[in-house]
Amino acid sequence: MSLKKIIIHPDPRLKKICAQVDGISPELRKLATDMLETMYDAPGIGLAAPQVGVLERFFVMDVAGKEAAPEPRVLINPRVTWTSEEVNVHEEGCLSIPGVYEDVTRPAKVRMQFKDIDGKDHEEEFEDIAATCAQHELDHLNGTLFLDYLSGIKRRMITAKMKKLKKERARAG
Ligand code: NI
Repeated sequence: MSLKKIIIHPDPRLKKICAQVDGISPELRKLATDMLETMYDAPGIGLAAPQVGVLERFFVMDVAGKEAAPEPRVLINPRVTWTSEEVNVHEEGCLSIPGVYEDVTRPAKVRMQFKDIDGKDHEEEFEDIAATCAQHELDHLNGTLFLDYLSGIKRRMITAKMKKLKKERARAG
């Protein structure tokens, strides 16, 4: 296992529509394992492939919480098949936008079709934090960040802050 470098916003790779995963190769399994490791290390509850520079449609997540046993998930080629009319407001963060947390409104429940890491098809309904996380991660596969739901002024302020952070990190080596 090895930790991946997480790309920080702004970066053109975070704005791309990712490609469908064709088949589940040993490389993809290794990458998914590394991404889970990277996510736990960060720590975070979700990480999408483009955040580590891989422009393919999959993400990892674990919303079990610190007190519970880990529940690592890999969702490949996820597709929303249903969303509730009811919405929820959750404070969201993103490993590509470190230290920033903002309220985002999304459907409270969502149903997704996806393949797991063994290539098995699933259709599953997510609610609460799992719904927020799965929608946030799926957005990444379409080049959308949670910032895109905020006001223009907030987005510009946060982007400026991240540019500064990247400069500082580059200087620190
Ligand atoms: Ni994110």
